[in-house]
Amino acid sequence: MKYIYIKTWGCQMNEYDSSMIITILQKKNKYSITQSAENADVLILNTCSIREKAQEKVFHQLGRWKKLKNKNTNIIIAVGGCVATQEGKEIFKRAHYVDIVFGTQTLHKLPEMINEVEKRKQFIIDISFPKLDKFKHYLKPKKKSCTASVSIMEGCNNYCSFCVVPYTRGNEVSRSCDELIFEISSLADQGVREINLLGQNVNSYQGLTFDGQICCFSELLRLVAEIDGIDRIRFITSNPLEFTDDIIQVYKDVPKLVSFLHLPVQSGSNKILQLMKRSYTVEQYELIIKKLIKARSNIQISSDFIVGFPGESDQDFQKTMDFINKINFDMSFSFIYSKRPGTPASKMTDNVSEKEKKQRLYILQKRINIQTMSWSRRMLGSIQTVLVEGISNKKNTELYGRTENNRIVNFKGSPEMIGNLIKLKIDQVHTHSLKGKII
Ligand code: SAH
Ligand code: F3S
Repeated sequence: MKYIYIKTWGCQMNEYDSSMIITILQKKNKYSITQSAENADVLILNTCSIREKAQEKVFHQLGRWKKLKNKNTNIIIAVGGCVATQEGKEIFKRAHYVDIVFGTQTLHKLPEMINEVEKRKQFIIDISFPKLDKFKHYLKPKKKSCTASVSIMEGCNNYCSFCVVPYTRGNEVSRSCDELIFEISSLADQGVREINLLGQNVNSYQGLTFDGQICCFSELLRLVAEIDGIDRIRFITSNPLEFTDDIIQVYKDVPKLVSFLHLPVQSGSNKILQLMKRSYTVEQYELIIKKLIKARSNIQISSDFIVGFPGESDQDFQKTMDFINKINFDMSFSFIYSKRPGTPASKMTDNVSEKEKKQRLYILQKRINIQTMSWSRRMLGSIQTVLVEGISNKKNTELYGRTENNRIVNFKGSPEMIGNLIKLKIDQVHTHSLKGKII
């Protein structure tokens, strides 16, 4: 038996890819997963390159693993994910002790690649883009908890000027609708209650059906809602660009779809949105939100923001702040713009000082925190449906679960409730969690 240690950075797509790697390797019956790098025969790093900091971490980590390899030269080190796809052979140049470089679309080839390295003791690289091949090796995933993520499409065609994703994940490809229904049904049969549909741009999903038709995202949502056992549906990430009325209509018709939507806006200034090549205006974004509220009055919206994009003036930043107030965003993610090699924005003149960027991020995050807290406070006394995930870390007489709007609620209950949706009355609101009582 060989021991595999895998470290994953980045988005939920990378988490999904890593569970695919584990499943594919375990199928070979000669690999077992270990939680300690020191015990491993094969060390796998699944990397992220969305911002510079994430990328820098890779070589620091590899430096630590080099020490393990110095002690035991039989250890195999494999680097995959977005940095691997982007850097390719450069990885070997900077870290010559790496044995395998695999891409976001070639992870299913890892078992053969490991065999090859064992036989020939030569490094191997495959960062090609064989569309959707990896999914063929992953048809019946094992349930890990009552909630599961399923990747519905890969890649992105939007080429926002700051973003590396289209280069590291390739152009959009959608998995077939039947394959997805099969995968989700099999998870539901094992007791999964909540499905999180993943993709870089889920609303441009275009999956083939068995009769050669194309199924769009809103149709897919309706089909998933039909699956017995699936009681809650989430998705991430959608784009304001193609957030069409048929998707909004699903909020009206399908209660299983959560009243919470992560819809990244990035900036509240039309000038910056245009430089970012986001292809929508703040007015169009606002219209989507208005329609959503009409379809689902209690919907909560979260977002991603980038501050300090090249050309962002004080006025542009103020527009973002005004927009945050206007939409009343819930908990959101915000980042300082990071120059990514090869992207169109990397050629723009970056005229915002580091100090200014940090200050803007601080102001923005403070505002978002206030809004998040006020959304939480509104929940006091309300009845919430919670998917019970497990026993609380702090008190073993308590369980914890998650509301539709991603709040953790702790409450007194019995372990057989784990994995079920239950109704709670919220009676305490804390900064990072809520407390509730079963009703
Ligand atoms: N598909 C998603 C985004 C994926 S990346 C979408 O359509 O929005 C996740 C988030 O990282 C983005 O929303 C953006 O806010 C941030 N991000 C991406 N590239 C970045 C960069 N170069 N610098 C700073 N933040 C970035
Ligand atoms: Fe990136 Fe824009 Fe696509 S942020 S993932 S290029 S929608």
